[in-house]
Amino acid sequence: MSIGNETISLVASGKTVLVVGATSSLARALCHTLAREGYGLVVTGRDEEEINLLAGDIVLRHNVPVMTLTEDFLSEYFTAESFIARSGEFDHIIITTGTMGSGDPLSLNDIAFTSHINYTLPAQIATLAAQKFAATGDGSIVIISSVAGDRGRQSNYAYGSAKAALTAFASGLRNYFYKQGVHVMTVKPGFIDTPMTWGMQSPLIASREYVAGKIVQSMHKKKDVIYVPFFWRYIMLIIMHIPEGIFKKLKL
Ligand SMILES: NC(=O)c1ccc[n+]([C@@H]2O[C@H](COP(=O)([O-])OP(=O)(O)OC[C@H]3O[C@@H](n4cnc5c(N)ncnc54)[C@H](OP(=O)(O)O)[C@@H]3O)[C@@H](O)[C@H]2O)c1
Repeated sequence: MSIGNETISLVASGKTVLVVGATSSLARALCHTLAREGYGLVVTGRDEEEINLLAGDIVLRHNVPVMTLTEDFLSEYFTAESFIARSGEFDHIIITTGTMGSGDPLSLNDIAFTSHINYTLPAQIATLAAQKFAATGDGSIVIISSVAGDRGRQSNYAYGSAKAALTAFASGLRNYFYKQGVHVMTVKPGFIDTPMTWGMQSPLIASREYVAGKIVQSMHKKKDVIYVPFFWRYIMLIIMHIPEGIFKKLKL
């Protein structure tokens, strides 16, 4: 068993998951769900203290090997290639990194920043993981997108458009690597009880544990695209079919 930048060797083959952005609220729940099932983990995040605390907690509770990697995506030295190289050995990857940005719809900086964190980096990391998995003809890539990517809304369209790009990217990646045995799953959560939704009052908010459980279950079943909870598929179907002439007048 190990905590730190060491190679994992104590877990069955095919049972190590790299969780990118492991200190996100959703990712923490995913880590515990996976560890409960006996998966070893490589957990990455930008806050070293937080990532070590998370790793220690998982080892203590679930007795599985956990490797940590501290990485700041905004560092001038960051490259997706070195990130994947430093992540050690893993059989599956879950990419949870995301940000809503400042919330100012007129911020030019937000357009660049949210694209970078929600789309560019996850897409680059997923591409490298897919190539790695293609070499063995196995492995799942789980990409956390959002229902916000299904249609641009005035409340968060910089974030939503970056997630739309990520959703389209995941679709293409799945298509490109399908014949090489690589599973790519797009996850479109609705509202989850995380800091992103703090202050929001809605009966539609799902617990992190529920969403994490559904994601891991669907990964096992090698699903392509999932909405979590499932009813968001129908909510978004309605939203996507509202005529533009009406939609532009709504406050969504
Ligand atoms: N919460 C929701 O209702 C909801 C709904 C739909 C989709 N999602 C998606 O689900 C995923 C997880 O969401 P969450 O609510 O758990 O989010 P969260 O707690 O805010 O976590 C976001 C993750 O992204 C990382 N991150 C943000 N900015 C970063 C930066 N500049 N450099 C490196 N890492 C950065 C965070 O790192 P730190 O931990 O270091 O801050 C964290 O790991 C996200 O992709 C989000 O878009 C969430």
